[in-house]
Amino acid sequence: METKAAPDVAPRREAPAYSVPGACTIVIFGASGDLTARKLMPALYALAEQKLLPRCFAIIGVARRDLGNEGFRQRMREAVGRFSRLGAVRDDVWAPLAENMQYLATSFDESKGYLDLRDLLAQVDQACGTEGNHLFYLATPPTAYAGIVRSLGEAGLVKPDGHGKGWTRIIIEKPFGRDLGSAQELNRQALSVFRERQVYRIDHYLGKETVQNILAFRFGNSIFEPLWNRRYMDHVQLTVAEDLGAEGRGEYYDRAGALRDMVQNHMLQLLSLVAMEPPAAFDAEAIRDEKVKLLRAVRRIPAERVGAQTVRGQYTAGTIGQRTLVGYREESGVARGSTTETYAALRLTIDNWRWAGVPFYLRTGKALASRLTEVTIQYREPPLLMFEHAAHADHEGPDRLEPNRLSLRIQPDERIMLRFGLKPPGEHMSLIPVVMDFGYREGFGAQPPEAYERLLLDAMLGDSTLFLRGDEAESAWSLVAPILEAWAGDAKGLTSYPAGSWGPTAADALIERDDRRWARL
Ligand code: BG6
Repeated sequence: METKAAPDVAPRREAPAYSVPGACTIVIFGASGDLTARKLMPALYALAEQKLLPRCFAIIGVARRDLGNEGFRQRMREAVGRFSRLGAVRDDVWAPLAENMQYLATSFDESKGYLDLRDLLAQVDQACGTEGNHLFYLATPPTAYAGIVRSLGEAGLVKPDGHGKGWTRIIIEKPFGRDLGSAQELNRQALSVFRERQVYRIDHYLGKETVQNILAFRFGNSIFEPLWNRRYMDHVQLTVAEDLGAEGRGEYYDRAGALRDMVQNHMLQLLSLVAMEPPAAFDAEAIRDEKVKLLRAVRRIPAERVGAQTVRGQYTAGTIGQRTLVGYREESGVARGSTTETYAALRLTIDNWRWAGVPFYLRTGKALASRLTEVTIQYREPPLLMFEHAAHADHEGPDRLEPNRLSLRIQPDERIMLRFGLKPPGEHMSLIPVVMDFGYREGFGAQPPEAYERLLLDAMLGDSTLFLRGDEAESAWSLVAPILEAWAGDAKGLTSYPAGSWGPTAADALIERDDRRWARL
């Protein structure tokens, strides 16, 4: 069964209501790196093609490598050609963008580089009319963040917010710290130079249309929210499965692992949107207040319970479709005896009135059977079952009716599915599960923009709703801190799973102990 956009309400496809920001310059530190090529430049190009960039707009790339303006422009054009979602690069879009694109070669710890940057910014402001509005983007390795922030301050490149002409903002890429202590330290360093409202801590999951739709779905409809609590929900599952291994990123990944790389940020963001209370207003502070409140209400797992409530695994060699993957420890950049987890599963509980007694099961892993992100909400069974149903039961167990289930599929095929039981034609009063299915692409007839497009636009507009506040980042770290600590002291707790599977069997045992199953996705 499939639903289309409601027939009596014309779908509004014509106007993606985005505002165009005022004149500004974006300064990208780490301009010769992977993130700039794969994400930032294609996103800026896509904004340009959609006419969402300001009329006066300049880009300054900063990195160590000596590329020169022309070399940088050439490289960025190639990157857009390779990674843009919009296909071939259009000259009429590229030319005006490239015209105001400059490159500054300097090492990030050289104070002269920041004085050169100041001069260049002054020139650009003058030539392009960017009015002293500067957005800095830290796309460097995280070890460089603190030094860049300090040097920007020392070079007088950070204008106090709200005073005089022009604004200064800074986007800080993930990882925001590698544990609670380093995140607190980074906050301290950033806030000694910038005001909180000038700091944009990025988590690209928040820029995904379908992630934002969690809030729209919950708070824009009156039929779901009354059922969004312990009285009706049995449990919630969050799955972020990836079908790629650590391929090409071994060195970074081996120092991070699944808990730091995916759970602390992307998955806890999903969790907070699914479980937060309705905000009083749809603005940055009200929404982030509720997210922080939720993260604080998640019960910290005490050291002695970490073994029972978490599972971690590492992939061994296997095949995914046509691809054969070597085991994680054979990946380049990975230590041969590495104990870094490439899979993590957790059972979390939330101590508030809405969620007491409702477990949240989180799982994420690399080199799994397919790429799929989904929030799966399982409702309680009816209090009394009076139908024949055994003949139609499936993997939920041989003698059980499939409970109602709501699935918010975040990627790759964005959709919302609601499963319920109906009687098929025939003599018997038995139930079979059917699914109402809304697909974004079919429903809205458009490809959703890339997360970075939305986030860059919001930062230029000064809207920090989809960015993390400092206390939010710290709260997320404090939640994973006891797990990180317990895992560090227990190398034997690491399990394994073959690439191409759905993860370690211990993760099945984690949820089966509660007489539940992972949704088959
Ligand atoms: C990044 C992680 O933040 O998110 C990667 O560092 C991961 O390891 C990626 O692959 C997943 O993002 P997406 O948008 O592809 O789901």
